[in-house]
Amino acid sequence: MSISDEIFALFNARGHTAYLGEDVSQTEHALQAAHLAAQEGASDDLVVAALLHDIGHLTNGLPEDIAERGIDGHHEHAGAKWLKKNFKPEVTEPIRLHVAAKRYLCATEPSYHAGLSAASQRSLKIQGGPMGARELGQFESSPHARGAIRLRRWDDEAKVPGLAVPDLGHYRARIEAIARKPSEP
Ligand SMILES: [Fe+2]
Repeated sequence: MSISDEIFALFNARGHTAYLGEDVSQTEHALQAAHLAAQEGASDDLVVAALLHDIGHLTNGLPEDIAERGIDGHHEHAGAKWLKKNFKPEVTEPIRLHVAAKRYLCATEPSYHAGLSAASQRSLKIQGGPMGARELGQFESSPHARGAIRLRRWDDEAKVPGLAVPDLGHYRARIEAIARKPSEP
């Protein structure tokens, strides 16, 4: 099974589930995020990162309403870990850091928090709230901080019910092109 087959199987099995308190499914959310990235002319690495940024929600097997129960499933870590074998840090690091990017933006951009959806504002609390000074410095020192912030903004926008965007198959070639080949370290 190719990596894109493996990913699509996950979306087909679990992508219809609701995206955490929003009016779109996990698959719709992923496709909208990838489409926004592509429209902005982002690299293939970042387009695929946008498509797969919440795959941890599909792989971790935790109940859908976990955030409502006040539990942080750390889906960003689960997703990055699951993808690590097949993708380079340019893909997995913005994914791992996309929750940190929200906490970063809440601390540094006064208008950002108000623009978040209600569900995203609620989950911020269990994700640790806005970053403190020390965490801000740590986050900024990552070479993938900028990619994570761009990904975060697509994530925040990708919640439009019924929006028509390209389907999963549209991204197959891009996924295969940037995935590690078996001979690569
Ligand atoms: Fe998301």
